[in-house]
Amino acid sequence: MKKTASANPFTQQTKIQEAELFIGRRAALDQLLQLLRSMQNVSLIGARRIGKSSLLYHLFLTGHGGLREETVIAYTDFRGVRDENSFWNCLCKALGKPGDKLSDFEAALNAHGRVVFCFDEFERVMQHFPSSSGLFDTLRSLAQDDNLALLVATQHPLDELARTEGVTPSIFFSIFRPVELGLFTPEEAAKFIATRFADAEAQITANETDRVLQLAGRFPFFLQLACYRLFEVKAGRATEWEREFARDARPHLEYLWTRLKPSERALLRRVAEFGGSQQADMLDDLARRGLVVPMQDLQGRRGWQLFSQTFEDYVWNPPTQSWRDHWWRFGKTVRRWFKGGKIGAGPAGEIQFERPGEKPKSTDK
Ligand SMILES: Nc1ncnc2c1ncn2[C@@H]1O[C@H](COP(=O)(O)OP(=O)(O)O)[C@@H](O)[C@H]1O
Ligand SMILES: [Mg+2]
Repeated sequence: MKKTASANPFTQQTKIQEAELFIGRRAALDQLLQLLRSMQNVSLIGARRIGKSSLLYHLFLTGHGGLREETVIAYTDFRGVRDENSFWNCLCKALGKPGDKLSDFEAALNAHGRVVFCFDEFERVMQHFPSSSGLFDTLRSLAQDDNLALLVATQHPLDELARTEGVTPSIFFSIFRPVELGLFTPEEAAKFIATRFADAEAQITANETDRVLQLAGRFPFFLQLACYRLFEVKAGRATEWEREFARDARPHLEYLWTRLKPSERALLRRVAEFGGSQQADMLDDLARRGLVVPMQDLQGRRGWQLFSQTFEDYVWNPPTQSWRDHWWRFGKTVRRWFKGGKIGAGPAGEIQFERPGEKPKSTDK
């Protein structure tokens, strides 16, 4: 396809559906292929828009080479599932067969040698079968057969999801090997930016790349949003990208933030404020999920920071105004004052404190 310099290559916000547009994820792909080769059931867990669907779809498009020859890879994201019939229909359709009953699905399975079935957006199923453990027990017995392996993608571990959705407990939720999907590696993030700009025949400087990475982090979706706005400036359709990106990112950060447990929110606030060198266990967990990244300060001390500056700005100024938030902000203000910070006017007329020893933040981003 011939691309013009002004066709923005960063418009895709849902799963990548072309193998050549998919970047990186080699470690996760290798891990998945290794487990699926021995027909193990795998639960892929990762934050919203971190790249789970893109990964599953890429495996569906290209993974056959890494599996045994007779293995078929099927993919469904359960769009339109409402009841058991539509559920079985989704599965049959993905195997290229008609039908909307368990027996139809079993017949479709028997027509193939071995099937690796990618169950994307499995939350949709969990939401529609809140009290029917029957379906999950049926799936468990199907998945225990050597000829079927499930690869299930969700934002949270399956047993946790079952609890929050009020699904009757089932052994189904414990038959999976968990694999967590986190941020791009630094190399993958750099490659994402460089190849997309190069493919669109646009130049990006090293400083711009650094700024994109600073604001968006290595989180694929936020990188995509930031690059979209930067590209618009380069194409002459906009004059400013950083504030536009911050505005685009905010509802998505809010989604991330409001779905965290209160204890996780408290920990992230501590990381934003103090660098979070304690509570390593919980921070490891947040790091695996891509919410925090390790860092080293100028004195060589190791600690943690939030995955991007935009997320950090959000954590300083979350929209929820519970009494806890007010107390936290009040406490933060007092602590900073005692630590020698200076008061300055932040965006939206809020009073902000410059961090001790830090250059004043430009509010004109
Ligand atoms: N491996 C990847 N290569 C390129 N872009 C990616 C990749 N993974 C994610 N993205 C970007 O992130 C966006 C969200 O990815 P998606 O797979 O829909 O996430 P999830 O299923 O976890 O919500 C995609 O539209 C794409 O822009
Ligand atoms: Mg998805």
